[in-house]
Amino acid sequence: MTVAMAEIVDGCRLKCVLCYNNIRTPSFRQMELGTLEKFITKYFPWRKGYTSWGEPLLHTEFLTIADMIKGSNSDLHSSFSLDIPDEYFKVMGNFDRINISLSGLTQDVHELYHKGGNCSLTLKNIRKLLDNVDREKTKLYIHFLVHRDNEYQLKEAEELFTNMGFIFIPVRLFYQIEGMLEGFSHPYLKGKEYDFHRRSFYCKEVRNPRIDIDGRHMLCCGTRNVPIGFTLDDDVPEELLIETKMKHPLCRKCQETKHWRMIRGNVV
Ligand SMILES: C[S@@+](CC[C@H](N)C(=O)[O-])C[C@H]1O[C@@H](n2cnc3c(N)ncnc32)[C@H](O)[C@@H]1O
Ligand code: SF4
Repeated sequence: MTVAMAEIVDGCRLKCVLCYNNIRTPSFRQMELGTLEKFITKYFPWRKGYTSWGEPLLHTEFLTIADMIKGSNSDLHSSFSLDIPDEYFKVMGNFDRINISLSGLTQDVHELYHKGGNCSLTLKNIRKLLDNVDREKTKLYIHFLVHRDNEYQLKEAEELFTNMGFIFIPVRLFYQIEGMLEGFSHPYLKGKEYDFHRRSFYCKEVRNPRIDIDGRHMLCCGTRNVPIGFTLDDDVPEELLIETKMKHPLCRKCQETKHWRMIRGNVV
């Protein structure tokens, strides 16, 4: 499935182990509302997300953004590990889907991956979300990021969140942002269950339009410093955009598997 993604905040206060934020000092610059408006208009019927490797709830105009995206097939992705004002919960139902990532049911386990994350705050926010959002209208997902050292909590987490009414998705970590172009080496990515040659683990990001805070197209989520040369203002057909991306360096796994050659089921 192709999902257009816009990075609305360049940064996050957490430093998850395999995330881009683990190795950088974020700028915390944010997307201007005019740029966001262009993104919504351009990709109107598409499924859309408002993050790639940042925390969208840190955008200082989140309330206006929630108003702008209403009825536009939009996803919110958050770690929920921050103080969220009550007004924010009241507008979260404007999103069609809300995806919350966590990686443990206790602080010691959660912070193994979500460095700087606060497990009890996340759980408190999750309960507030349930009190404020109409689950008939907004689908709620938990993305439980599974690794070697938290796998033993997976079953319990699945039971807890399924009973609360969430769609529970175990996410097997399959990439490490800083290794995107060179390949991957972190121990959390090793083992039979993280085998890259299992097709379902290919990220396929190169097919998704990825827009940074300035409105520029990125190659994919982990390679923001590789300029593609197009912005939201360019009227470029999707096929040309993907073709152009393929002339740029792609991560080793994409090259090895040639998965990037597949565009909507057709080999190019
Ligand atoms: C990158 S996060 C950004 C949004 C938000 N800050 C958060 O952490 O949920 C968005 C989603 O990416 C996925 N994700 C995070 N780290 C990953 C990794 N190393 N490999 C694969 N997927 C990952 C998770 O499913 C998470 O819900
Ligand atoms: S919470 Fe999300 S954006 Fe923040 S460090 Fe973790 S994965 Fe990265």
